[in-house]
Amino acid sequence: MSARIIPVDPFDYVVFGATGDLSQRKLIPALYYRFYDGQFDTNSRIIGVSRSEMSDEEFQKFARDAVNEFVDADHIEPQMLDDFIGCFSYIANDVTDRDGWAALSDRLRNDPSVVRAFYLAVAPFLFAPICDYLSSQNYWTPDARVVLEKPLGHNLQSSVEINDTVAEVFREDQVYRIDHYLGKETVQNLLALRFANALFEPIWNSAHIDHIQITAAESVGAGGRSYYEKSGALRDMVQNHLLQLLCLVAMEPPASDEANALRDEKLKVLRALKPIVGETVHKQTVRGQYRGVSAEDTKVPSYVEELGDGATSNTETFVAIKAEVENWRWNGVPFYMRTGKRMARRASEIVIQFREIPHSIFSRTEGAPTPNRLVIRLQPDEGVKLFLMIKDPGPGGMRLRQVPLNLSFADTFTQRTPEAYERLLMDVVRGNQTLFMRRDELEAAWAWIDPIREAWDNDATPLHGYTSGTWGPTSSVALIERDGRTWHEELDDPKAI
Ligand code: BG6
Repeated sequence: MSARIIPVDPFDYVVFGATGDLSQRKLIPALYYRFYDGQFDTNSRIIGVSRSEMSDEEFQKFARDAVNEFVDADHIEPQMLDDFIGCFSYIANDVTDRDGWAALSDRLRNDPSVVRAFYLAVAPFLFAPICDYLSSQNYWTPDARVVLEKPLGHNLQSSVEINDTVAEVFREDQVYRIDHYLGKETVQNLLALRFANALFEPIWNSAHIDHIQITAAESVGAGGRSYYEKSGALRDMVQNHLLQLLCLVAMEPPASDEANALRDEKLKVLRALKPIVGETVHKQTVRGQYRGVSAEDTKVPSYVEELGDGATSNTETFVAIKAEVENWRWNGVPFYMRTGKRMARRASEIVIQFREIPHSIFSRTEGAPTPNRLVIRLQPDEGVKLFLMIKDPGPGGMRLRQVPLNLSFADTFTQRTPEAYERLLMDVVRGNQTLFMRRDELEAAWAWIDPIREAWDNDATPLHGYTSGTWGPTSSVALIERDGRTWHEELDDPKAI
């Protein structure tokens, strides 16, 4: 089946922070792909706002360069690109400058059939002045939307403050908090897998599942970014992406795919997470920071070397956590999560490890039955694998072997897998909040993260060094092996995946 493109209403997308990295690498290329696929046309406008002095033409060149660099060459057609670039204009505005705001107001169309969205790809301390202007200068309309990029706070209190500020101007149904993991195709596929198949739901519980693993490994480093130094992996990846994945795996079936039905169920999971406090922080969490490699043929800087001369840092670039969801469905089933930079490979996946069979009838076989395992691969090479036991073909007795039933999306579907932002940017225009975090979800996630962060700040858990290009500190292996389990080893062998 080929993709179905449903055109969206014309829009005025105002992107604050339009000349930043996110805009260049993700937002502009994602919008281009949607334009290329015919989801919107030249009746829509993309208005960049940023402090840099730039003309419309210079910003259009910036957008053109972004497309040329970050869009697949075989999707770039000169006329199409020209038309797309024609949607772009720019306003230099340092947010406190009244003249800049007046110019923005002139660019927006006062037509109720045009969707108005404000995308705040800026540091959160700018949310307050921007929202203030958006209310006071009448940019607000009952149907206007505001999109918030992370970091949405650095702890519960700061996230409450941000949410309060935004709530003074926008109703909750106008607020779109981005967690781009929710826009990934395979993440949405997790919903399809669980709730569009009768097969899994009856066994999706502690009676049949032994444990769950969630890994988001990156091979790149933090690159000396000052944002990362303040945030660390716990806030950067666990508080949002990994917990959202955990919610989708653990939640009860919602009554429908309506946004709040789904978000209500995710919230229940977040609230059922057993707090990790006091002594348990030491037992259930591991934090690490990558070291450099200095061999004759390879040189990789350490995290602190990337920060600059003489820097020191306690920021974690790796986290492993054993989490527990305290409810009937998941009683006694640990959720092991890990994420890190400069790991052996870029690989994100969810592993559902089923329990052992209750009794083996194969007394005279080679190879004991190995428990089933469902692997949902988010990236790269999106797909789903179900590991089953089979009899090794041919004579030689009853020899058992585990083989994967492999659904590789690349092999099954010929079309391009869309980037997460493509879906999310269009969902804003469509007014669909399903794949965005609600305020209470965000705050529940922070409430769970805060005690871990505080304990770490008080040095309750050592910061372990790990060599770049490995799977993190050995204590992460110990975290899961203490429970008689192992991390999904297939990750070590790219060819096997
Ligand atoms: C972002 C983090 O939210 O997600 C980055 O801030 C991280 O540090 C990125 O690199 C990972 O996203 P993806 O889609 O490449 O897995």
